[in-house]
Amino acid sequence: MVKRLLARAPSNIALLKYMGKARSDLNVPAHGSLSMTLQGLASYAEVTQSKGNEDRSVQDWPELLSSDERAACGLPLFSNPAKAQEKVLKHVALCREVLSGEAWAAVPTYGVEVRCVNGFPTGAGIASSASSLAAITLALAWSFAKDPDEFREAFSSQGSPLRAKLADLSRRGSGSSCRSFMGPWVEWNVSQEVSQLTSHDSPLRDLVDLVLVVDDQPKLVSSSDAHLRVTTSPLWNGRVQRAEDRLSQIRSALQQGSLESLAQLAWAEAWEMHSLFHTAQPPFSYWTGRTMELLQWFSHHQTDRRFPVLTLDAGPNIHLLARKADCLGWKERLQCAFPSLTFLSSESGAGAEVLRWTTA
Ligand code: PMV
Repeated sequence: MVKRLLARAPSNIALLKYMGKARSDLNVPAHGSLSMTLQGLASYAEVTQSKGNEDRSVQDWPELLSSDERAACGLPLFSNPAKAQEKVLKHVALCREVLSGEAWAAVPTYGVEVRCVNGFPTGAGIASSASSLAAITLALAWSFAKDPDEFREAFSSQGSPLRAKLADLSRRGSGSSCRSFMGPWVEWNVSQEVSQLTSHDSPLRDLVDLVLVVDDQPKLVSSSDAHLRVTTSPLWNGRVQRAEDRLSQIRSALQQGSLESLAQLAWAEAWEMHSLFHTAQPPFSYWTGRTMELLQWFSHHQTDRRFPVLTLDAGPNIHLLARKADCLGWKERLQCAFPSLTFLSSESGAGAEVLRWTTA
């Protein structure tokens, strides 16, 4: 049995959004989704044996971070630690139950302690529940492995059945976390299959995500509520088919390496998701005045030859995806136009990984 194990899992940004569920209790999506893995914006989870027989969860454990990461963060991982603790413990119980049926696992009878921390500022428009749940799932599964080296071998390749299985387990804790197990581009379909678009399939594998941080306050409507409320919008009618059609167009744009098509499709998708929010009953919005100012600024640059991919998650912040050199150019222009704007950025990557472990 592993004594202490540290896993890291990246966040991801969806170009085709997971919004609206076919089954809320199991996080079954109403339609497929597709995202880029944000390797540089990660959460960490450490699993050790707990002092008692109970499972324990500790949030915001800064010792797991490097000094650079600690300096860059400063905000807690979860806006509501008590609620987060409950969510983590529920997921530990689920992992115990599901993994006890696996021949490679020896689920311990003693309690485990799960410590987590976020390597990026919480509330900055990056899905920390996706990265943290993915890190927790991987850390628990690996530490339950009878043979950790064999587990590493089985987990190592992107297309491995074990990776897909853990992605599926993680999905039950936070839907979008399943896409954090692979990269750089990951699709999650309605049959619950999570798959990587293999790197040679996409000439657009090297994009960088520049996050324009408009507001870092916790959101007023949680994504769980948003999933329920979008179905009350009159625009929900036909949404599932539109999303599936757009998903297949995004897949083609990625395969053909067409940044221009990708930008158009992502723009339409972001507007459609936010229109669902704005027309739900009752309506709600994540946008601030600054979000709208920025969207307007970009609308004046629509004809630029290298117009970037723009998208918004369920939050006010804007994600700009472009090739590295273009990203720097956009950042300079934005800094001139909006001197107080802050940024985060991340390259794409290959998904969740274990950093180190010690055995008893
Ligand atoms: O995984 P959840 O339930 O937090 O849903 C998040 C969904 C979005 O981030 C808004 C979109 C997506 O596909 O990531």
